[in-house]
Amino acid sequence: MSIQIPDSLIEALAGARTVAVVTGSGISAESGIPTFRDARTGLWANYRPEDLATPEAFRRNPALVWQWYQWRRKQVGEAQPNPGHEALARLERTLPDLRLITQNVDGLHRRAGSRKVVEFHGNVMNNRCLDAGHPAGPADPDAESPPRCRECGSPLRPDVVWFGEMIPENALHQAYEAVDDCDVLLSIGTSAQVYPAAGLVEVALQHGATVAEINPDTTPMTSQVGFALGGNAAELLPVLADRIADGK
Ligand code: OAD
Repeated sequence: MSIQIPDSLIEALAGARTVAVVTGSGISAESGIPTFRDARTGLWANYRPEDLATPEAFRRNPALVWQWYQWRRKQVGEAQPNPGHEALARLERTLPDLRLITQNVDGLHRRAGSRKVVEFHGNVMNNRCLDAGHPAGPADPDAESPPRCRECGSPLRPDVVWFGEMIPENALHQAYEAVDDCDVLLSIGTSAQVYPAAGLVEVALQHGATVAEINPDTTPMTSQVGFALGGNAAELLPVLADRIADGK
């Protein structure tokens, strides 16, 4: 079955001055990285976020939280970008100004070749120290408990945004700059339930941008967007990127 993408969406993208893309864990599903809210395989179906993804959880049991992130780092290290990531990198090279905001911490967009990437929730491979936020790069993959900060001795934690934490100011600023006056926004592989990321799509809708969603399921945004493409990102995005590249 051929994948149908409406001509009017292709025309809007091809004619756009600025395009913003918001991605979530669904775009990495075909790379073998679990999503969060899938009822069977999702991380939050199998683990409690309050035990693993809050500053309180880390202070309570640093080794447990650290080891969970070490497991996720291993998964990410073994994963490869999929055709969905690659198609977005290609689109960035084809269109005049495409900026990508990802909620994913897996770094796969950059590995696929995307350059204008805002990592809204951080990057799981990096660390920073708990007490002063001193940046620290990747840790020894075999470390079973958090190493200490070289500068101040406080434990290192993954450089990701946990529940109850603010989005880093720089990421927030760049993300809003990208969506504030975009002509087209693509919302890909996200359940659009977690704010402020989901709010980025609302901003684009409010100022009249053309908004398309790529997701095999419906989300709270589906009824509001101009184009709801029900399908997998790894299948739809290469077709979309080919059509833009071919000018049809
Ligand atoms: P979710 O697990 O909430 O949603 C994943 C979405 O991807 C769902 O709507 C799926 O239907 C869709 N999906 C699954 N496979 C797909 C595919 N092959 N192609 C396209 N879409 C597909 O994940 P996120 O929306 O990313 O936050 O979750 C948002 C945030 O909640 C995460 O960044 C994380 C989590 O708690 C933090 O860690 C701060």
